[in-house]
Amino acid sequence: MRIGVLCSGNGSNFENIVKGCPEHDVVIMIHNKKECGAVKRAERLSIPHARIKSKDENDIIKMLRAWRVDLVVLAGWMRVVTPKLIAAYPNKIINIHPSLLPKYKGLNAVQQALDSDDSITGCTVHYVTEELDSGEIISQSCVPICPKDTIDTLTHRVQQAEHHLLPNVINFAVLQ
Ligand code: GRF
Repeated sequence: MRIGVLCSGNGSNFENIVKGCPEHDVVIMIHNKKECGAVKRAERLSIPHARIKSKDENDIIKMLRAWRVDLVVLAGWMRVVTPKLIAAYPNKIINIHPSLLPKYKGLNAVQQALDSDDSITGCTVHYVTEELDSGEIISQSCVPICPKDTIDTLTHRVQQAEHHLLPNVINFAVLQ
């Protein structure tokens, strides 16, 4: 598969896809933040990257088509995806979210889990649909919530789970 990854931040999941999916090609990393960690990682990994400034998704679609992308992975993409992009890539856009969906959709998912009485949380890879964090779940991974956890320790544990889950889904799940 030719994979396009969309990032707005640190880019650790992007790097793990590149390293963890050697049978696939990450052909382009698109970002919307000028100096995000994902750009430094793309430089180091020699992956082509491009910044899209416009909120209009036409530019993103054009870029994905130009690179003949088969699968779009949202890896920390902090922008709501509109029907335009979804229609351009039906069932070909997946997202990683730091909670056991359907629990804790949207922002601050790890904090929401920490504030709950739950003893486990985790991460979810799901198809992207028009409704935020609500598309069909492909796979999930659990981590414990420990009594002494802080937002930093729990975020770190969830992200470690993400770094296994997302490459595994790309490598082994039967994507539609
Ligand atoms: C991850 O925790 C992911 O679940 C969320 O944004 C974060 C991105 O982290 N959607 P990174 O940029 O991949 O390091």
